[in-house]
Order: sequence, then C-alpha cells, then structure tokens
Amino acid sequence: MTTPTIFCAIDTPDLDRAKTLAAQIGPVTGGIKLGLEFFCTHGPDGVRRVMDEAPDTALFLDLKFHDIPNTVAAALRTVAKTRPAFVNVHAAGGAEMMRAGREALMDEAVRLNITPPRLLAVTILTSFDAPTLSAVGQGDDVAAQVIRLATLTQESGLDGVVCSAHEIAPLRNRLGPAFTLMVPGIRPAGTESGDQKRIMTPDEALAAGASHLVIGRPITGAADPAAATQMIVESLS
Ligand code: C5P
Repeated sequence: MTTPTIFCAIDTPDLDRAKTLAAQIGPVTGGIKLGLEFFCTHGPDGVRRVMDEAPDTALFLDLKFHDIPNTVAAALRTVAKTRPAFVNVHAAGGAEMMRAGREALMDEAVRLNITPPRLLAVTILTSFDAPTLSAVGQGDDVAAQVIRLATLTQESGLDGVVCSAHEIAPLRNRLGPAFTLMVPGIRPAGTESGDQKRIMTPDEALAAGASHLVIGRPITGAADPAAATQMIVESLS
C-alpha cells in the first residue's frame, strides 16, 4: 500500500458514524486518522471495525503517548496490532522514550509480519503560546522549542513530526527531504476555518514542504463527504 497524502480526521465517539465516514472517505483519500476520543471509547477493537469498512486505507492512530519508556513501548506494541501506518508520541517524553517506542514497533512488526508502523512525534501543541510554554518551564520561544524537539525526534530515529502549517518551511529546511511532516490545520479554499488559527490550503502546505495533510471537518462536516474529499484530491496540483 502506498502512503496516501491526505489523512481524514474522523473525530467522533460514535462507532456507526465512524464506520460510515470511513466507508465513504477511505476509498477517496486512502488515509484515515482516528484519535483519543474514538480510541478511549472503542479501543483497538473499534479501530479494527472502522478500518474493516475501508479496506486498503492507511490508518494514522493519533494517540500522542507520553510516559516512561517501558510503558510507551508496551502501549505501542499493543496498538501495532491494529496495523497503523503512523502512530505518535510526545517528543517531550525524551530520546530514551522515543527510541524505546521505535524499537518496540520494529520488534512487533517482525513478530506480526507487518510493515513497521512509522513513528511520529508531536513537538509543541498548537494550543500553546509563549506564556503557556513559559508556565511549564520550557522558555517562551515556541518556534525554537519546536525546532529543538523536532531535531531530537530525528536524532532518536523517528520518522517525522506532526507540525502546524507555519512550521513546515523551517522544519523542512532543517531536517531534510526524507523527514515526514504530517500537517493538520488544512482548509481547502472557500471552507470555514473553524477553531484552526494558522491554516493553509492543501496546495500551499504541500508546496511549503508538507509530506502528509490531516483534514477533518471540511470533509466530515460536508453534506457529501465523499464528494468533498474528491474535490480536495482533484485540487492538488
Ligand atoms: O477538523 P480539522 O481539520 O481541524 O481536524 C484536524 C485534526 O488534527 C483534529 O483531529 C485535531 O485534533 C488534529 N490536530 C490539530 N492540531 C494539531 C494536532 C492535531 O488540529 N496541532
């Protein structure tokens, strides 16, 4: 399976709705993202049931693990059984945690005879600004801290980071062409920005150096999600 460019964020705790959306969207995007809200409600079994509706669709399991290395490794081993293309951790968990997570995924992939899930890290959440960062003792320069954590991610052998649209260019510049930059906050021209503040169109984000895009509500909130997806796919030059 080739790795798709677009992962549609299906953010709902409703299993039937998630299954319906997956069946509509999966064949068009080739990629689906499920996150904490869904996973905490339905667990790995629910993930399998959704992905059964969208065969040949890649899964990004966005659970952002952050704990001691042994616990994160064990959690990643467990979720590897759902055969995600991507999973993620918080870079702030440190190099040892990231390396332990990566090794656990590699081991489990051999044991299950599957392609190893690619491991991404979250650097600084986009809900953080300078005062929020300062309050948790990480200085007050968000951009510098994003670069620092993304560099640590790469040095720890991970495949890439989740980053906001305005971080694409500096990270691509710093981390080279092969590093995965998975970018949410994407809004096709003419759609509502919702609560996303720093948005880009799919074309702009790809031109800036994004490797993958996460798009949620512009697709899932459309009257016809499959048609909305198709329009986005066709808009990519
Ligand atoms: O609906 P929308 O396109 O805004 O969905 C974006 C998805 O990406 C959501 O699942 C959201 O949790 C996730 N995300 C984000 N910003 C980040 C990291 C993840 O919007 N910095």
